[in-house]
Order: sequence, then structure tokens, then C-alpha cells
Amino acid sequence: MKHLIDPTDLTKEEIDQIVALAEDIIAHRERYQGSMAHKKLATLFYEPSTRTRLSFTAAMMELGGNVLGFSNPQNSSAAKGETVQDTVRVVGCFADIIAMRHPVEGAPLVASEVSNVPIINAGDGSHSHPTQTLTDLLTIKRELGHIDDITIGFCGDLRFGRTVHSLIKALSRYRGIKVVLIAPDELRLPDYIKQDVCDKMGVAYRETDSLDEAIPELDVLYMTRVQKERFLDEDEFDRVKDSFVLDNRRMALAKEKMAVLHPLPRVNEILTEVDDDPRAAYFRQVENGKLVRMALIISLMEWKNDPAHTMPEHEAPVLNPSLHCTNAKCICNNEKHERRFRLAENGIYRCWYCDSKVR
Ligand code: CP
Repeated sequence: MKHLIDPTDLTKEEIDQIVALAEDIIAHRERYQGSMAHKKLATLFYEPSTRTRLSFTAAMMELGGNVLGFSNPQNSSAAKGETVQDTVRVVGCFADIIAMRHPVEGAPLVASEVSNVPIINAGDGSHSHPTQTLTDLLTIKRELGHIDDITIGFCGDLRFGRTVHSLIKALSRYRGIKVVLIAPDELRLPDYIKQDVCDKMGVAYRETDSLDEAIPELDVLYMTRVQKERFLDEDEFDRVKDSFVLDNRRMALAKEKMAVLHPLPRVNEILTEVDDDPRAAYFRQVENGKLVRMALIISLMEWKNDPAHTMPEHEAPVLNPSLHCTNAKCICNNEKHERRFRLAENGIYRCWYCDSKVR
């Protein structure tokens, strides 16, 4: 069985297959109506969402399937202390496939370890958001005609922006990708992405704190919101919240064919004056999110019993009782789970569930 917890759970060929299927759905909508008839998707959302939850719902409805679930954990038995693993064991009795969003990092991973149906990570804390990545890849393909050989600038909150982390992981498998990281010091990309992804996969990247300086060379500008809900210190948030604002003056510095992406919601990092610019692709990106989730649901359901599509093999985890995950928002620090680690690049240990550094 195939789950989607991290973009690297899919091979590049599988990603390309899902993107191609989404394009085929766009061309031949009628062929796919009813393809999920009598199937049920459960959406377990422990954290707020508009796009991801509703696009999963719309995707399953368009495929002729049904949807059940919750959008507020206070209305579920999580409020009585039920663990994530017990919840998915129960929901697996009712649904054929589960999409889960959780503020605790690694929650969808532990869910997948006990689930009898495919689990899709719909966003876990600051860690990963692989279905947004599929959305972004489809959008880049549709806007530019190709994914290889692009220079992409990530701007804003690269520290907590899980969509950025996941997209860099996926893009690292494409040819000729150049990454420009545009962020203030406080919001820089975590080291594990720079070392374990960019350095390991040979992705060229540079860091800058000037959007004006970076924008002329970009094929894609990926704007992000500063994630207030992830900050432990409100003063720190106030210092960086308005670091970058995209306006028409800055758009005038960009290439004629640059595409502006944003996972949304935006707060004030893109002025509404930019919305009418043909390069503003973020609302088309939302529509692509539904289409690619249709393709993902079809693929995971088809692959359920296909030995050609299984989870990737990982080295056995390190079980060293003297190591501790330093991330208060990791599942291993919120529920009782075996403390597991992996040996990453440069001989550093990282948490198995959330990739954080280890004490
Ligand atoms: N892009 C995204 O994940 O949006 P929501 O939080 O509204 O689902």
C-alpha cells in the first residue's frame, strides 16, 4: 500500500504520472466522473484549512465518491484524549482513504504505520505538505510548460513554511533547478533542507534578503505568509511579519513570463493590485489543487494492492535512548511513541518523525 506522508514517498516517475493524470482529467473531465463511486474519503482536520480540505472534498465529489470526517478536533474523540493511531484505526473501518492535517509534526506518519487504508498528509505542523507540492508542480507545468530548468525564488517564511520544504524536496529530483532563498535571518530555510536535500541532491541555491535584487532572474516567484501560529515568541513575529510585500512596482522588475505562486491564504505579502497581472497564478493554483487531488486519490486507490507501488525502503531507525528530539511540536513529544532517529548528512542525527535536530 502507498501512503503520501512526504514528497519523497513518491518516485519522480509517480509524481510525473500524477501530474500527467491531472492534465488528462482537465482534458477529459467526463471520463473520470463516477470513478470513485461507492468509495469514501475521510478528511481528518485537526487544524484550520480552507483550500486543502474543501479541495479534497470537491475532488472526491467530482469523482462520484463520498466524504466524511471532521474539521475541528474538538468535535471528535481527540478531545477526550484519543490518540492519532487509534483514531485512524477506527476511521479505517468507515473510509477507503484518509486525508489528515495535524499541527503536530509526524502525526500522519504514525497514522500510516497502523492504517489499513492509504493516508495522505494534508499538512503536519511546519514539516511537510506534499499535496500542496503536487499542486505547485502542476501549476508550474501549466504556467511555464515545463518543470525542469527553472530558477525559483522562495520568499517570506522559509523557516515554518511547510509548503516550501516539501516543494524543494520534490524539485530536487528535476533537472537544472536553481533556488533563490529570499528571507530575513529569522525566517531562513532549516538546515536539514539545505544539507539533506539541496547539498545532497546537488541543487544550486543562494540566500538573500532582497526581493528587488532577486526578482529579475526568476521564472517562478513562490511567495509565502509569515506563519504567526508557529511562532513561540510574539515579538519575534511582529519584527518579521511584513518583511516582503509584492506590489506592481516589484512586478515591473520581473521577467515577462514569470509565474507568481502562493499556497494561500495570503495576509499582506501580495497586494491585491497584483491580482490582475497575468503572471499572478495563485488563484489558478487553487483550481489545480482540486485537479491534482483527484489524480492523487485515483492513483493511491489504484496502487493500494499493486506491489509496483509501495512505500520506499528506509534504513532502520537508530534507537538510542540518550538522544532526544528538540521539537516541542513533534509527535514523539506529544504522544507516547518510540524515540527513533536517523543518521543524516554530516553525521548529524535527526528525528525520524519531524527531521529536527537531536539533543
Ligand atoms: N494552501 C493551504 O494549505 O491552504 P489551507 O490552509 O486553506 O488548506
